[in-house]
Amino acid sequence: MGGENGGLEMSGTAQKHVVLGVTGGIAAYKACDLASKLTQRGVQVHVIMTEHAARFVCPATFRELTGQPVVVDMFAENPGLPIAHIALARMADLLLIAPATANVIGKMAAGIADDALTTTALAVEAPVLLAPAMNTKMWEKPVVQENLAKLRQRGVLIVGPAEGVLACGEVGAGRLAPVEEILAAALHLLGLEEGAARKAGTGTAGTASVPPAAGDASLAGWRVLVTAGPTQEPLDPVRFLSNRSSGKMGYAIAAAASARGAQVTLVSGPVALQPPVGVEVVAVQTAQEMADAVAQRLDSCDVFVAAAAVADFRPATVQPEKIKKQEGTETLELRLVRTPDILAMAGERRRQRGGQGGPILVGFAAETGSRNLIELARDKLQRKGVDLVVANDVTAAGSGFGTDTNQVHLVWAGGQVESWPLLRKDEVARRLWNRLSQFRQGRS
Ligand code: C5P
Repeated sequence: MGGENGGLEMSGTAQKHVVLGVTGGIAAYKACDLASKLTQRGVQVHVIMTEHAARFVCPATFRELTGQPVVVDMFAENPGLPIAHIALARMADLLLIAPATANVIGKMAAGIADDALTTTALAVEAPVLLAPAMNTKMWEKPVVQENLAKLRQRGVLIVGPAEGVLACGEVGAGRLAPVEEILAAALHLLGLEEGAARKAGTGTAGTASVPPAAGDASLAGWRVLVTAGPTQEPLDPVRFLSNRSSGKMGYAIAAAASARGAQVTLVSGPVALQPPVGVEVVAVQTAQEMADAVAQRLDSCDVFVAAAAVADFRPATVQPEKIKKQEGTETLELRLVRTPDILAMAGERRRQRGGQGGPILVGFAAETGSRNLIELARDKLQRKGVDLVVANDVTAAGSGFGTDTNQVHLVWAGGQVESWPLLRKDEVARRLWNRLSQFRQGRS
């Protein structure tokens, strides 16, 4: 789309165009920062404001920041933009709406086009990224969530909202996602993220933070549940038992599903990764918390991917105070007890239903190369009663915890084994969803 300029001048063939929709919430002032940061990265930003947004922030602010005319009124003279909404929709490489109010979300879900922004949204064929911002009570209303689910199913990507203190004084979900996070997602969708996103200070997310470019809605309607990261099992108020899992594989799986239009919930242990765009993240610490979060959601998902490295044991008791060194004692004995096996619990639910229905179950087997990986995976597959085990040797070069690549073997309940070459984790995720799509088609 970005190749067509709708009669406007472009400064180069590689120039990317973002149509930035700004709607009427107090977070509109943060869109100024976003417009400025995108412009600084060489993106041409065309702002369309709703009438209400123009009451919060003066259009001239965006005009000065972007060097481009700002459209508010469809019927006003918009120099250089004879039919503004069509011209802008054609030239957009991305439509980014930040902040997106409950109102604009509702209008887009219903296909209403009654102003410059919603008309452009209906005309655009480029990826659409929304950054919702509203009062917590509004955010939690079923109608808002239903509208968002509809948009997600049509391939619209959603970043945020974050939790925190809102302008109205309430505390909860509804804050505009941090500008750096929206920026990273936008740059990624424009294919500009390498280096740029890191320069923008988006932390350690690396390749797993945002999904591949949108436009593919092949998983629309799928409800996906993913676990990722390690768990931490407290020993006392300052210590815990954990493992080296970075969460990158699970985050890449969640991001890839979301990018294809799935509704994704990611139950995540403590990791240093950005939440993937459009994914609901449920943060947990212990295996028991992860098990509870999964148990609540298992019956309402179509696929459950257990990519977390769940601690198998936890300290039998958590000391209320920090454990002190004892004079004259050189050892400390810890008694550990088993944690719930979340994946096995999912398999057990299926068994109780006579092996019928319920989500597709996918497990991971992280092994350390001591025995035959495939045999171990087969054993795990049967023991836990799942459809697929993705096995890897976490000690092999380029594979396992913390790396950006992985070499995996897919061991299916039907007996087939597929071994893939060393791939980036986002590519493993992409291929995994291709295979799960085929599997689901064959199953139905
Ligand atoms: O038994 P093992 O830990 O090797 O099995 C690995 C698989 O089982 C992974 O998919 C992991 O996420 C899942 N698992 C789990 N709950 C546990 C232990 C492992 O869901 N307590």
